[in-house]
Amino acid sequence: MPTKVFIDGKIVDRQDATISVFDRGFLYGDSVYEVLRTSGGRPVDLAPHLERLSRSGDAVFITTPASDVIRRHLAAVLAAAGNEDSYIRIVVTRGSSEIGLDMGLAGTSSLIVIVKPLTLPPAELYHSGAELRIVGVQVTPKVAMDPSVKSGNYLSNIMALREAKQQGAHEALRLNKEGFVAEGASSNVFVSRKGKVVTPPKSAGLLPGITRMRIMQIAKSLNIEVTEQPLHPDDVRGADEIFITSSIRGLLPITKVDGSLVADGKVGTVTRALLEGYNNYLKLVATHD
Ligand SMILES: Cc1ncc(COP(=O)(O)O)c(C=O)c1O
Repeated sequence: MPTKVFIDGKIVDRQDATISVFDRGFLYGDSVYEVLRTSGGRPVDLAPHLERLSRSGDAVFITTPASDVIRRHLAAVLAAAGNEDSYIRIVVTRGSSEIGLDMGLAGTSSLIVIVKPLTLPPAELYHSGAELRIVGVQVTPKVAMDPSVKSGNYLSNIMALREAKQQGAHEALRLNKEGFVAEGASSNVFVSRKGKVVTPPKSAGLLPGITRMRIMQIAKSLNIEVTEQPLHPDDVRGADEIFITSSIRGLLPITKVDGSLVADGKVGTVTRALLEGYNNYLKLVATHD
C-alpha cells in the first residue's frame, strides 16, 4: 500500500518527497497544516479542515492556496496512492528563505500533501480504553501563540507526550497556566458525569478539533447533553467516563487517568453511544456522494 506525496507541483513516491533545508517549515516549524482521514476513500470533513487551514494561515500571515486548488491536488494524490483508506496531511510552509526570523525574507509558500495508508490505534484500545496522564507541560498561552492555529511548531506537544509515554500512558492531558484542563498533545478531551458530557471551552486554550465539533453534533442528535465548561483536573479524575477525540483516532475511550481507573474501569454507556454514533457517521461519509 503506497505513500504518495504532492510536492513541488508533482506527485512522487515517499523516497523522492524531499524539501530544501532552507524551507522555513524545516528551519522554524514556520508552517500550518491539517491532518484528516478518508472513509471509504472519501476525505472526512474536508471542508472544515480546509477552512481551519485557511484561518491558521491568515492568523500567521502564511498564504494558503485556494481550497479548490488543494482539493484538486488531494484528489490526484489519493488516486495515485489508491489506498483503501488513507491518512492525509496537508502542509503549507512559508517557503524557502535566507536564514533569518524575518518573514519578509520568505519567497512563496509551498503546498505539500502527504497521503499514506491509514493506521488506527489498536482495536483493543477502543474496546478496553486507553490511559491519560495529566502532565506538567502546559499549553502555550494565547498571548504567546494562539492555540486555535494549527501550526507546524509542535515541540511543546512532543514534550508533553514524552512525559505521558514515560509513565506508560497513551496520551498527555495538558493544563493551562490557571491550572484548568485544556487539551491533549494531539486530541481534545471530554468527560461525562451522570450522563452529561462536558468539554473545556475554547477559552481554556485549545485547538478546536473538527472531531470535537462533530462529536458535539452527534451528542445533540442522540439527546446527550453536552456543554463547554472549565474543567479542573479533579473533574477529570472523578469523572464517570472520559474520552478523547482527534481526526485519526475518532473517539477513543479513556479508562485510566494517572494510573487510576476511571470509575469501574470499563468503557461507559455514554462513551459507547457516541463511539457508535461517530462510527455511523464514518459509514455515512463512505457511502455519501
Ligand atoms: C493540539 C491538538 N488538539 C486537538 C486535536 C484534535 O483536532 P482534530 O479533531 O481536528 O483532529 C489535535 C489534532 O491533531 C491537536 O494536535
